[in-house]
Amino acid sequence: MQQLNSFRVRGTTVSLNQAESAPEDAARIVPVAKGEDGLELPVTSFAVGGLLDSLVAVGAKGVSGETARVLIDGQLYVSVGLGSADEIDDEAVRRAFGAAARSLSGVEEAAVSCEFGTRPVVEGLLLGGYSYQGLKSSDSPSTPAAVTVVGADPEEFEHAVAVAESVNFARDLVNTPADFLYPVAYAGIIEDLAQEWKNDISLNVKVIEGDDLWKQGFGGIVAVGGGSEHAPQLVHVSYDGGGNKRVALVGKGITFDTGGISLKPGAKMEDMISDMAGSAAQLAAVVAAAKLKLPVRIDAWLPLAENMPSGSATRPGDVITHYDGTTSEILNTDAEGRLVLADAIARACEDTGDGTPDYLIEAATLTGAQLVALGNRTAGVMGSDEFRDTVAEIGREVGEPAWAMPLLEEHEEEIKSPVADIRNVHNARTGGMSFAGLYLSRFVPEDVEWVHLDVAGPAWNGGSAYGYTPKRATGAPARTIIETLTRIADGQL
Ligand code: BES
Ligand code: MN
Ligand code: ZN
Repeated sequence: MQQLNSFRVRGTTVSLNQAESAPEDAARIVPVAKGEDGLELPVTSFAVGGLLDSLVAVGAKGVSGETARVLIDGQLYVSVGLGSADEIDDEAVRRAFGAAARSLSGVEEAAVSCEFGTRPVVEGLLLGGYSYQGLKSSDSPSTPAAVTVVGADPEEFEHAVAVAESVNFARDLVNTPADFLYPVAYAGIIEDLAQEWKNDISLNVKVIEGDDLWKQGFGGIVAVGGGSEHAPQLVHVSYDGGGNKRVALVGKGITFDTGGISLKPGAKMEDMISDMAGSAAQLAAVVAAAKLKLPVRIDAWLPLAENMPSGSATRPGDVITHYDGTTSEILNTDAEGRLVLADAIARACEDTGDGTPDYLIEAATLTGAQLVALGNRTAGVMGSDEFRDTVAEIGREVGEPAWAMPLLEEHEEEIKSPVADIRNVHNARTGGMSFAGLYLSRFVPEDVEWVHLDVAGPAWNGGSAYGYTPKRATGAPARTIIETLTRIADGQL
């Protein structure tokens, strides 16, 4: 067993500092765009005579994701493509500066300017510069570039840093292999970090584990964690920023999903280290909310378990009792996320004397059906009609594509079980994402505005890096949740 609470493997990213002008030797990062008559320089800072011609000469076109390097009078210029000159929005800027940060290998010092807005520039750099090297023992890791940000709005700079650092924190957690990040280690990391950060942000962490989970009625969490040597945990992280809104956050925290007795096929099973990405995004969101001092009350509930097959694992056919008393027939132990989430949702929405939360935001790498329906990058969003649509729209605005999906009437019949209140899977190969959403809806009280984000695809990038999205863990849907919290705190929702 690995050492407890070891969180020694972190990703790295560029380091930023603010200044009024670029240091002499720093490489100049210059955004370029694709105009009607070819390459354009949409902003003039850092521009020198001959720059545009030199870039054209090395083949720069200004298309999104493109980078090029030229030397003029001994000064290095790195161009980054924004795409079409008449379609430059925040996302184009984030992507261009993300690609810029990724292209800085061998560059020690660089400088950027903030004409396109401090937030997208800074977010793009910190998110795009992220790289996870894991536990390689041989290579000495190269130091990421130091980037001077010129002309930043200091408040926007702080905001962007808080958001990006939180997202990178979620990425670190998701990227950490499951032999380091198992439930008790994960809970320990959260407790240790809350302690370490206590002078800056005030987070309250409580962990429910062992017999207490069973005694308090968390039958889903106990059933899913039962097959593993690593005991399940339910972590409660709260932040009280005042204000008159209460938000509950719930995130799936399966530290590894083998499928259990309904064992998954071997191919790509290693990607199931990402099955705790929902919980990591929720954690990132509370941390960001606390750093941004959002005037809102947040309670995050993170059910952590490892889904393993063993002599003590849950069997197909077992009937479990969830936290709210609902009984469920387990027909497939690989549909485990909904089981731990149902308990956590019921607990998060419980009225313990001061009412239920106003909003419930829940995030999970819940179904392969999400990938079938919407592909690798677009989250499926279910929940209360209006709030669901709002959150899907926010996702698209922040650059975490998301699309509203319905809960289906026909599943109301299909969720019935002959031996329990409900069953955990239905008997069809269609609509699997919506069926899982319907399962969760059974645990949300009528008066709570809720949203369920299925990020099975978006949380993990199995392909190459693009824009500000690195390989492996992406951090999604943390920025969607942070922006939603910001608007709730502002009174905009
Ligand atoms: N963790 C998986 C879903 C998943 C699949 C996440 C691919 C990321 C990438 C989830 O627990 C699962 O196994 N779901 C099953 C449900 C089925 C048994 C009803 C699935 O989607 O196959
Ligand atoms: Mn599963
Ligand atoms: Zn799973």
